[in-house]
Amino acid sequence: TGGVTTIDPGYKNTGSCVSAITFLDGEKGILRYRGYSIEELAEKADFLEVAYLLIFGELPTQEQLDKFHSDIKKHSVVDDDIKKILDAFPKSAHPMGVLSSLTSALTAFNPSSVNVDSEEEMYNAIVRILGKFPILVAWTMRKKMGLPLDYGSSSLGYVENILQMMFKRPDENYEQNPILVNALDKLLILHADHEQNCSTSTVRIVGSSHAGLFASLSAGISALWGPLHGGANQAVLEMLEAIKEDGGDTKKYMGKAKDKEDPFRLMGFGHRVYKNFDPRARIIKKAADDVLGDLGVEDPILDIAKGLEKEALEDDYFVKRKLYPNVDFYSGIIYRSMNIPVEMFTVMFALGRLPGWIAQWREMRLNKEPIGRPRQVYTGETLRSFKGINER
Ligand code: SDX
Repeated sequence: TGGVTTIDPGYKNTGSCVSAITFLDGEKGILRYRGYSIEELAEKADFLEVAYLLIFGELPTQEQLDKFHSDIKKHSVVDDDIKKILDAFPKSAHPMGVLSSLTSALTAFNPSSVNVDSEEEMYNAIVRILGKFPILVAWTMRKKMGLPLDYGSSSLGYVENILQMMFKRPDENYEQNPILVNALDKLLILHADHEQNCSTSTVRIVGSSHAGLFASLSAGISALWGPLHGGANQAVLEMLEAIKEDGGDTKKYMGKAKDKEDPFRLMGFGHRVYKNFDPRARIIKKAADDVLGDLGVEDPILDIAKGLEKEALEDDYFVKRKLYPNVDFYSGIIYRSMNIPVEMFTVMFALGRLPGWIAQWREMRLNKEPIGRPRQVYTGETLRSFKGINER
């Protein structure tokens, strides 16, 4: 039987590692990064501070944060040959596939990021990817929109720079809108880490073979792409749009979700760990109200989403299965109000999750974790002899 007697599909009851980074309590809806509650961090911290906290374990002093940011800025360029790889993709390519490819391709231009054994070598690889990844994100979006690829400005804050790289039109001075800066900053913080979810476990297991950081992150991006994981934020908007086109008939979609014959998932609902509510969904739902209000945007999709949530909370199929809105349910409504294309929603999730993936990869390497190699229960043929093709 390959040495084991029971298997645990989806690792629902398996602990893969010890970690000091993120704490979840699924029953109580608690999420903490290095002991700080997500509610406090979303309210009081900024994304770069939270990235530092996740990776190094403490909130940075002003001096530490300034040095971290200036080291990142030193690497906020990518080799121009990356554009040739980007050009090779058809416009129809999904941005997550482009981003995963470009992230892995970065290794070719940063060979020092592969064999990293010392903390200093790890630090250099970390500030490199934190500087280059937002450029890849912005260029992936601009390529899809047919806009020229450019850089932001090193005088800007980390999130301001991302917005400028994404949205600056060639002929204009991009005006920073504090509503958008605060909204994006908060969304990135809320997505920054989530213990051993599918994509983080992927980063850890790829990294456990001592493949480089960029290759491990590229694998994590591919795992996040799936509609059962980060890809859900795009699937939620497509579902809400379909309901709107269908005259807002939420009851019909609730019925479809319960139809065992045609297993339609109510995207943005349910979670492996949270069995009462996802604390991030609560914060994002309120932020959606605030941001759309501040922007003066009326979006019927938000009302449809709230209607769906209300009905699910009163429907015993969902209550019995403890299905509540998760982080992906409301986030797309804010991205849409920021004029981010729906195919880019999961890329924005990856942008937020980057520091968490980095923190988990670094912890795995510093803990000298062994290469990930699970066993199996064998259910195949017993020994049999080869037959020539004329005997088959
Ligand atoms: C993320 O792990 C993380 O932390 C992930 C994440 C992170 O920050 O990294 O939080 C981000 O991925 C959030 C989840 C985004 N995915 C979706 O919104 C897709 C829709 N949700 C589901 O596919 C599902 O709920 C999962 C994948 C989130 C969780 O799946 P599980 O824990 O494997 O649960 P399951 O599929 O075994 O479902 C249990 C029951 C089943 O019914 P029965 O077979 O018992 O009759 O609940 C049903 C499922 O059919 N069910 C749903 C449902 N989710 C579960 N029914 C309708 N709609 C849904 N969304």
